[in-house]
Amino acid sequence: MKIGIDKIGFYAPHLYVDMNNLAVARNIEPEKFTIGIGQEKMAIAPITQDPVTLAANAAVEILDETDKEKIDFVIFGTESGIDNSKSAGVYVHRLLGLNPRARTIELKQACYGATAAIQMAKGHIALNPESRVLVLASDIARYGLNTSGESTQGAGAVAMVMSADPKMMALEDQSSYLTDDVMDFWRPVYSDKAFVDGKFSNEQYILFFQKVWEEYKEKTGFGLADFEAICFHLPYTKMGMKALRTVLEQGTEEDQERLLANYKISTLYNRIVGNIYTGSLYLSLLSLLELKEDLEDGSRIGLFSYGSGAVGEFFTGIVQPNYRAHLHVDRHTKVFESRTEVTVPEYEAIFNKTLPVDGSTVELDIDSDPATICLSGMKDNMRLYINKMNRN
Ligand code: COA
Repeated sequence: MKIGIDKIGFYAPHLYVDMNNLAVARNIEPEKFTIGIGQEKMAIAPITQDPVTLAANAAVEILDETDKEKIDFVIFGTESGIDNSKSAGVYVHRLLGLNPRARTIELKQACYGATAAIQMAKGHIALNPESRVLVLASDIARYGLNTSGESTQGAGAVAMVMSADPKMMALEDQSSYLTDDVMDFWRPVYSDKAFVDGKFSNEQYILFFQKVWEEYKEKTGFGLADFEAICFHLPYTKMGMKALRTVLEQGTEEDQERLLANYKISTLYNRIVGNIYTGSLYLSLLSLLELKEDLEDGSRIGLFSYGSGAVGEFFTGIVQPNYRAHLHVDRHTKVFESRTEVTVPEYEAIFNKTLPVDGSTVELDIDSDPATICLSGMKDNMRLYINKMNRN
C-alpha cells in the first residue's frame, strides 16, 4: 500500500520586511543577507497570528468535507507552542470543524517535529488504511532584534493531509536517522527567544546530513543519480546548499547540474518567507512541486530533516501521477503578491508587541488582518480565536 502526502497547504502572514532594508538599518552590507544568507524577504507575524492560527490558515485551504470526516489524527509539530500543557492541535481541530472522533497531539524536537509527525502518521495509516492524518508544521522564529540570528527569522505554516494512495507524494520505506545531544540551538521555557550557537549549528547540520546520507546509501544502494532533487530543512537558503555541496562530487556532472538547479527552485518560497522552523523543509518541497513545472511523475525526491539539539533524518518520496492537478499555485502566488511590506521600525514595533501575562482582557483588531483565522484576544489567561468564515 502506498502511503504519503495527499495534499499540502501553506500560509504566511500578510506582512514582511525587505532584507535589504533590514541590512541597512543594522549597518550591514545587504549582500550579506541576500547572498551570504540567501534571504530576500522575512515574513512578520502580526499580534493577531500565532502558531495556532498560522496552522489553521494553512489547513483551511486544503480540507474538504471528506477530509474533515476522515481525519482521525491531528499531529501538530512546533517549537514555538503557546501552551506547555494543551496541544495547539486541539484549537485547530475546533477551528476547522473536524470530526471529534480523533486523536490530537503536539510533537516537539526543534525543526524535526513535523518529520516525526509524518513518520507517526505513516504508521497510523499502515494500521488503519481508511484514516487520514492532518500533519501541521507551524512556527514563529524569533531570535531577537539586533542579534546575529535576526536575519534568519520568519513565520508561517505548512499543513499536510496524509493518506493511503496519496495524490502528491508516496513515501518510501527506507530512511536513516540519528540523535546526538548537542547544544546548538535551544529555547528554555522562560524565554520567548531562541538561543543559538550559529557556527556550531551550521557544523552539526552538515555533519548530520553527511551521516544520514551515507547510512541511507549503504541501506539502499542508491546514489545521487537516483534523485531528481533533494530538499533540505532551510533555516536560511544558503544552509542547505552548504550541506549539498559536501556530497555533490559523488555524482556525475549531469547529476550535479540537475541537483543544483532543482535545489534553487526548492528554495524560492523559503527565500521570501524566511525561517518557519518545523515547516521549512515542507515549504521547500512545496516550492519544488509548485515551481518546477516539468517535474515528472515517478521522480524520487530526497528530504533532509534537521532539528537542533539534535535529530536528523534522510527519507524519500516518489512524485505521484497527475500531482500538479492538486496543487494551489495560483492561490499561493496571490498570497505572496498581496502581502504588505513594513518598514524596519514598524517590524520592530510588531516584534515588541506582546500579549498580557497577568490574566487581563485584551481585544485585538482582527479587521486589519486579512487572514481567515485570527487570534481575536485574551481573557482569563486564555487565547481567543475566530474563524471569520463561520465565526467559530
Ligand atoms: N556579500 C556576500 N556574502 C557575505 C557578505 C557580503 N557582503 N558578508 C558576509 N557574507 C557571507 C559570509 O561569508 C558567510 O558566508 P559562509 O557562511 O558561506 O561563510 C555568510 O554571509 C554569513 O556570514 P557570517 O559572518 O557567518 O554571519 P553571522 O555571524 O551573522 O551568522 C548565521 C550567520 C546564519 C550563523 C546566524 O544568522 C545564525 O546563527 N542563524 C541561526 C541559524 C539557525 O537557525 N540554526 C539552527 C537551526 S538549523
